[in-house]
Amino acid sequence: MSDGHGLSRRYFLRAGALAAAVLAGIGAKAAPRIAAADIDALMARMTLAEKLGQLVQARGERNDTGPHVPAGSEADVRAARVGSFLSVYGAETTRRLQRIAVEETRLGIPLLFADDVIHGFRTIFPVPLGEAASFDPAAAERAARIAAIEATANGLHWTYAPMVDMARDPRWGRVVEGAGEDVELACRFAEARVRGFQGRRLSDPDAMLATAKHFVAYGAVEGGRDYDVADVSARRLAEYHYPPFRAALAAGAGSVMVAFNEVNGVPMHANRELLRDVLRGEWHFDGLIVSDYTGIRELVAHGVAANDLDAGVLAMEAGVDVDMVSAIYTGALPAAIDEGRLDVGLVDAAVRRVLQAKAALGLFENPYRNCDPVRARRETLRREHRMVARDLARKSFVLLQNEGQLLPLPKTLRTVAVVGPLADDRRSMLGSWAPTGVAADAVTPREGIAAALGSAARVLHGAGGEAALAAARAADAVILCIGEDWDMSGEARSRVLLDLAPDQQALADAILALGKPVATVVFAGRPLTIGKLAARAPAILWAWYPGVEAGSALADILFGDVSPSGRLPISMPRHVGQIPVHYDHRSTGRPASETERNSAKYVDAPRTPLYPFGHGLGYSAVRYEALQLSSERISADDTLEVGFWIANEGRYVIEEVVQLYLRDDIASTTRPVKALKRFARIPLAPGERKHVRFTLGSSDFELLDKNLAPIVEAGSFTLLVGGSSATVLEGRFIIAGDRGGGRRFGGCDDAVHAFGAQ
Ligand code: BGC
Repeated sequence: MSDGHGLSRRYFLRAGALAAAVLAGIGAKAAPRIAAADIDALMARMTLAEKLGQLVQARGERNDTGPHVPAGSEADVRAARVGSFLSVYGAETTRRLQRIAVEETRLGIPLLFADDVIHGFRTIFPVPLGEAASFDPAAAERAARIAAIEATANGLHWTYAPMVDMARDPRWGRVVEGAGEDVELACRFAEARVRGFQGRRLSDPDAMLATAKHFVAYGAVEGGRDYDVADVSARRLAEYHYPPFRAALAAGAGSVMVAFNEVNGVPMHANRELLRDVLRGEWHFDGLIVSDYTGIRELVAHGVAANDLDAGVLAMEAGVDVDMVSAIYTGALPAAIDEGRLDVGLVDAAVRRVLQAKAALGLFENPYRNCDPVRARRETLRREHRMVARDLARKSFVLLQNEGQLLPLPKTLRTVAVVGPLADDRRSMLGSWAPTGVAADAVTPREGIAAALGSAARVLHGAGGEAALAAARAADAVILCIGEDWDMSGEARSRVLLDLAPDQQALADAILALGKPVATVVFAGRPLTIGKLAARAPAILWAWYPGVEAGSALADILFGDVSPSGRLPISMPRHVGQIPVHYDHRSTGRPASETERNSAKYVDAPRTPLYPFGHGLGYSAVRYEALQLSSERISADDTLEVGFWIANEGRYVIEEVVQLYLRDDIASTTRPVKALKRFARIPLAPGERKHVRFTLGSSDFELLDKNLAPIVEAGSFTLLVGGSSATVLEGRFIIAGDRGGGRRFGGCDDAVHAFGAQ
């Protein structure tokens, strides 16, 4: 044990005592941390190599037996060449490495362990797009909380979630990771997930640092090709791509990940204007900025850096603190500093933010806070966690159509065929971002349905071809499970065709031709073009990838124990050629019209999607009526109360997702034909009638003027209400008098907080 180590021990004891006294903000919540002065004192003792080591994120490797560290990692930790690890977890493994960092390095600085805990750690929840279909941010917050409880019990401190990229292009495989096409929905889910991951206080042992990613416009890549170019206007950035980041930061997200793509000619890992000027400057974000995987090295392939040294300098100058996997900061920055090409002050600022993150997590006081195998065993895949996953899966299913009330099916069925390639595909139930999940934990549709029907019923199965058809022929009813397997959506899974695979379409055609009751369940990480299927299949349930409780949740819905309540968070196109098709488009000077030849439409297909944003049926019909506004004329700073009645006209207990949209009828810049402003899940018993009330305020009436300043303009507004974006009630009000802006870049919220406020 070196002298230095002894000193650092004393230093951290002192820091620990100070921590209780010194509170600084992580978002709105105060978290104990060591004082800035203590971090300065620590930094004063660090060599340049030790500082750069803090910026290095080394990667673990995963194989069938779980994560492990590559050869040489322990020596790197011992030599203080690593500040954090990606994809290394497990209470024992992280304790072993943490012990080396704390006990065997000169300064004893603890490591951070990071991973992609996207929709669950071991208890896998529906994929994020599926969670968004619940229109229930509180449920997503619960899921993120459980994910953090499990992940932190297994050694992790830092998650690369929530992904808050906006996207209107389902060819892009990463739509599965986001919250869909709508800004309001995305903001509410972004902040809910941050709250869930980070918990009450980051220093709590079950809280983990959340990361809003990928900054920015990653979902705007040309042609829906992953990693490709994004060419977006300043208005589109401000109105569409920024707000969910601002919502995540306002909720206290402690880190941001940089996007792989370029924006308007500048790769994000070298984009000073957007990282330093906008994210840090205008938004005052002072948390950690982490590169994406080898994102710094990729500046060479982008063609803006000649070599690693250039790439390292560009990224550091742009404001990227942590170098995930490229190993460029340690390799290239010492030479850049020697040659006078890089201001060492930038390195210091990045190191300070890494140390502040470690302090905010309480790692200086308790470096082993996440390394307890007993806690890991107790907290992982608890029964209660699975129940929450089942509830969320049920809420995520979207019933697209249900002709002749084919669903729910009676539980008295004696022979049921559960067929198709996804009917018993365990791995696919977990979805695309479940690296810490275990396929064996998942309940498949075949199993869930068999369990729900009990031993009196026979459940026949065939994955495809003649076996599936034979099962269907022998059954009283068929549940056809088709779609994309888990590996067809996600990162680097862009598609030009969104049709069902030809063999699946043929199977569906053959089964639907049998004349039996057939419920079609589609598993997918994105909208698909299912016009052919929709023309023949009476009942279609969109199930996304539901997680570990897939089959049980599916049975709950198919047999009517629970009425479906999910809504589409993204429009379902009829054809790939319509993309982007989204509900909140502008009217144009020649709005699409069936009778007007020269209008904004196609000659060979309708303008509208197959199913619109917000669409989803339940087992009871719901009537909307009596829209009332508190006033028909308000001033720009007033609030407006909007009330209406909904009634359950059917025999089932339901949860109705009510949706309120707004249109600014005349404005100085063009506005969407409607924009979601409020939504809520309302439980309704059979025959029950309820009054629903929302309050709108001036930020709801805001638009960005020609200079992108938020402003409320006088004039008329239309309110639209219904159970989908195809709204059924309409009202109008007037705002008398403008309210000027002054601030730039409006969005979900203006308060931006992170740790390390200087
Ligand atoms: C993805 C990120 C992810 C990272 C680490 C990258 O390829 O773009 O979303 O967090 O890998 O696994």
